Amino acid sequence: MSTLDELRRRHANAEAGGGAERRERQHKEGKLSARERIHLLLDEGSFEELDKLVRHRCRDFGMEQQVIDGDGFITGYGRIHGRLAYVFAQDFTVFGGSLSETNAQKICKLMDMAMKNGAPVIGLNDSGGARIQEGVVSLAGYTDIFLRNTLASGVVPQISAIMGPCAGGAVYSPAITDFVFMVRKTSYMFVTGPDVIKTVTHEDVSKEDLGGATTHNATSGVAHFEAADDADCCARIRELFDYLPSNNADPAPVKSCSDPATRADTALDAIVPAESNQPYDMKEVICRVVDDGEFLEVHEAYAANIVVGFARMDGRTVGVVANNPAVLAGCLDINSSLKGARFVRFCDAFGIPILTFEDVPGFLPGTAQEWGGIIKHGAKLLYAYAEATVPKVTVITRKAYGGAYCVMGSKHLRTDVNFAWPTAEIAVMGAEGAVNVLYRREITDDEARAAKIAGYKERFANPFIAAERGYIDDVIEPRETRARVIGALRMLRNKVDTMPRKKHGNIPL
Ligand code: HXC
Repeated sequence: MSTLDELRRRHANAEAGGGAERRERQHKEGKLSARERIHLLLDEGSFEELDKLVRHRCRDFGMEQQVIDGDGFITGYGRIHGRLAYVFAQDFTVFGGSLSETNAQKICKLMDMAMKNGAPVIGLNDSGGARIQEGVVSLAGYTDIFLRNTLASGVVPQISAIMGPCAGGAVYSPAITDFVFMVRKTSYMFVTGPDVIKTVTHEDVSKEDLGGATTHNATSGVAHFEAADDADCCARIRELFDYLPSNNADPAPVKSCSDPATRADTALDAIVPAESNQPYDMKEVICRVVDDGEFLEVHEAYAANIVVGFARMDGRTVGVVANNPAVLAGCLDINSSLKGARFVRFCDAFGIPILTFEDVPGFLPGTAQEWGGIIKHGAKLLYAYAEATVPKVTVITRKAYGGAYCVMGSKHLRTDVNFAWPTAEIAVMGAEGAVNVLYRREITDDEARAAKIAGYKERFANPFIAAERGYIDDVIEPRETRARVIGALRMLRNKVDTMPRKKHGNIPL
């Protein structure tokens, strides 16, 4: 056989993966093959594969008889809308996409390149975890990857897609990355599967309930996006990618914008209901303010009392954080604090300005919250806002009460520009609560109580006391929010702010 023939044979062997039968099973389960996924993720024809000829070195359990070039992990680089991305995809048809020593080395090589060249890493995961036949060598490989995930955190964006059953080590690497996508009905994440759980705790739980896409999007918060199928997943990764910078030194791509910066939206003037206990949807406010009404929500199904996601203002990416009075009155609780804090830290790490919309009655009271550690979890959000040095702009639309006022991008956490709508209520607590505390002994009838509440509202439930002190830079008409926020962001474009010299802080984990 000529060397050319040998080369072609090896390439064909790599491309065949675990064979037609296993690939057929993959398709029957509604999953695409690793190569098909990469094809959908990257710009047409842009993929350059690396290490296609790598082979595993295991000589136990008859593995020497089963050698597949590439060893089931496809690694390489390509383009998404013209921008460089490093990609790996696990081929479930080759030993269940399990991680061997050699394909751990492939991933490490890829991540080292991504760090040197400053481009994001995208992992398409479909793996049974550590390759059982290789034992500790596979564990070592995983740990080498975890180390690189950690070192790359905050240097290049890392995106994970879970596109099949992922167990053991196959879930810890995604957990360290910035965004996790899961595919509905075909993807699972768990440290230990249903069978082990049954043996140890006698709990009966299905794969889907334990670690399916809906569970991790809505209940655990491990995943940030739920895709309908593999193709949808790849399309949505491409969409997210467009909002992100390639690394922590480069700006996010700027999109040309036909939405006028000075566009006024009169509907905003009437969006806050007259009764302050009535809900409204903050997502409508966001969409009316940002470029072309386009908002990519992150973590949509988790802790919906806070909304986080990416949009553009004036063509430039902003990270939006907003209380949503339509869910739990927009109060802050453990889950929403965690969700907000992680997002704020991502934006800060990658130089993305943070735009906060605030309508928050306070922290959620109750034993479940207190015993669950709302003090330390709420402090994470506070800490994240305080340490963020990117441009920060806050708009208070209605309530900004108590500790929640302090936390949600207040002036005192070095937010650059703080606006309030005339409907803002900025005080230690709502009128009813305040009257109950202050006049507990004096008030004897409902009439006197109502009068005190009205008096408190008149005096405190407004933005002017805060504006008089400069805590609010301006009280603005809701319709002019877009123009004023864009004006502020333009003014802040060259902002430089720093942290004191330190190794790292100690966020209350
Ligand atoms: C080697 C594996 C494998 C593994 C699956 N396969 N997992 N081979 N090492 N870890 C192989 C199977 O033998 C099978 O080979 C093929 O992949 C498909 O697997 P099936 O079981 O037929 O598929 P399915 O029914 O869809 O179940 C998928 C699965 C299950 C849920 C992932 O395979 C499973 O439970 N695997 C083991 C998971 C696990 O415990 N991994 C180790 C975790 S410990 P054939 O030849 O039949 O096609 C770990 C340590 C790191 O990862 C910890 C770091 C913190």
